[in-house]
Amino acid sequence: MRVRVWSGTVLLWLGMAAGAWAQKSTVDEEGHPWWKHAVFYEIYPRSFADSNNDGVGDLPGITSRLDYLKWLGVDAIWIAPMYPSPEVDWGYDISDYYGVNPDYGMLKDMDALVAAGKERNIRVLLDLVLTYTSDQNKWFQESRSSRTNLKRDWYIWRDGKGPRQPPNNWTSNFGGSAWKYDAPTSQWYYHYFYPPQPNLNWRNPAVEKAMFDVTRWWLKRGVAGFRLDAVDVMFVDAQFRDNPVVGNDKNAFGDPVEREIYDKNQPELHGVLRRLRAVADEFNAVLIGETWTNDIAQLKAYYGEKGNEVNMPMDFMFTTVNKLSAAEFRKQIAWVDGSGGWPVYVMSNHDIRRVYDRYGDGKHNDQIAKLMAALYLTLRGTAVMYYGEEIGMRNNDPKRPEDVKDSMGRLGWPKEKGRDGERTPMQWNASANAGFSDVEPWLPVEEHYKSYNVRNEKSEADSILNYYHSLLTLRHTNKALLEGKYIPLNEDDANVLSYVRSYKGQNVIVVLNMSAAVRKVKLNLAEKGVPAKRARTLLASFATPGEVQTSEISVEPFGAWVGEAE
Ligand code: GLC
Repeated sequence: MRVRVWSGTVLLWLGMAAGAWAQKSTVDEEGHPWWKHAVFYEIYPRSFADSNNDGVGDLPGITSRLDYLKWLGVDAIWIAPMYPSPEVDWGYDISDYYGVNPDYGMLKDMDALVAAGKERNIRVLLDLVLTYTSDQNKWFQESRSSRTNLKRDWYIWRDGKGPRQPPNNWTSNFGGSAWKYDAPTSQWYYHYFYPPQPNLNWRNPAVEKAMFDVTRWWLKRGVAGFRLDAVDVMFVDAQFRDNPVVGNDKNAFGDPVEREIYDKNQPELHGVLRRLRAVADEFNAVLIGETWTNDIAQLKAYYGEKGNEVNMPMDFMFTTVNKLSAAEFRKQIAWVDGSGGWPVYVMSNHDIRRVYDRYGDGKHNDQIAKLMAALYLTLRGTAVMYYGEEIGMRNNDPKRPEDVKDSMGRLGWPKEKGRDGERTPMQWNASANAGFSDVEPWLPVEEHYKSYNVRNEKSEADSILNYYHSLLTLRHTNKALLEGKYIPLNEDDANVLSYVRSYKGQNVIVVLNMSAAVRKVKLNLAEKGVPAKRARTLLASFATPGEVQTSEISVEPFGAWVGEAE
């Protein structure tokens, strides 16, 4: 007999444990702090919910959707920058760290959001842009005003190598030299990103003090932590040496390709992170790192030798697996899971193309969206979701250069189209503008919104949204999924990724078919110390029996099966 395992069944089944979840304290019986089992959800405030119908999302909009997030199973939200900003890089250019961008509301709206979150046990985290400010920030305005200004040394100023020659060969992530000449004082300032985003000089203790003051100010207002932006480029080489150039290739901006050894990952940044962590610890707050790394040793360093730096350095190497390869994912998981730090999994964000497009094959995209959800939400570690992934939103890239809103896309067009595509309005329902706003939104709504939206998907038992909902419910209530160690299975299988999460004799098995064919999987459980012959299906993305023999589990193309060993 084949029974369909509906999300509703799983919910009923887990009903008893749900109360415990709502009441959870900050440390569990394993001594794990709250964030180790939390599901985080990134909100791009401009695109989430528009409460005042001006085409731009805002803080009251987010507050009005907290019940939805609670229903979904979200424990904490991270809001991309919502501070006053000239918006050359959509908020990552902050002109005042002590306020709210009027587009998004007022300070009291932030306080209201934090309070409404508390009522629902949803913590609110902000984005802390430590490395650079807007050129409109009063700190920079003072710094550029004269060579003797007290804040001159808050930023990185240098003489050029010669007339019209920047101090060295470092290039900006947004294209061109990373130095901009500033005529009033005849010196160059350094900007790793866009020219209106001058880098702060973290070798100056006054900068650290100013930023730690900002940090404390927000923590006192009740935010639960921060996502730390671009920490890898916080320091540059004290001697300003040229980066070596690799070959003759040019990047999307037409610049030479450099090995970034002098403008990235300088050891001094770890001292700042340790001191910042001490500030966060005073408030029991959590630090999430935008930690782009080349290898696991770099990622490990972000946890700190004594686990005293970033609580949650995001593993972006995981996001670089750009095809459905069981072997590749297995390798990445083994690295981070064996690193000694608590893994932090991410699939996409406001800088990374959406999962639906990155992994979709054009035919099984919905199944693949569920498969990828099952992957990062059943692993040992904390997961950071990106808004809209739960409804299968896809990229909506600009078609014409005049439509591009992201400066990266404007500078890099046509090779680099920028990141507008993954930042489009959240799709709430099938009405005009996807229920995001009554007026035309700042970025165009993705064309599939009539079927891929929250209202519609809530009513379809088999939708991506209901799958996420079931998965998150399961994750929050199943001890093996919360605490269990990760044991890889069938490590030679090129098509199917399978593993066990094992906790005190309870074993949850996950089988993910990353291929377009039905796979009959024979699990090598006994070899791994889990001699289970049968397993009970907890959640499957396809029709499957309620009980299976582990000697042969049949998994549909791109199917995800999660079960408990009996
Ligand atoms: C961070 C942000 C990205 C931004 C960049 C420069 O990497 O995630 O969106 O463009 O900083 O500001």
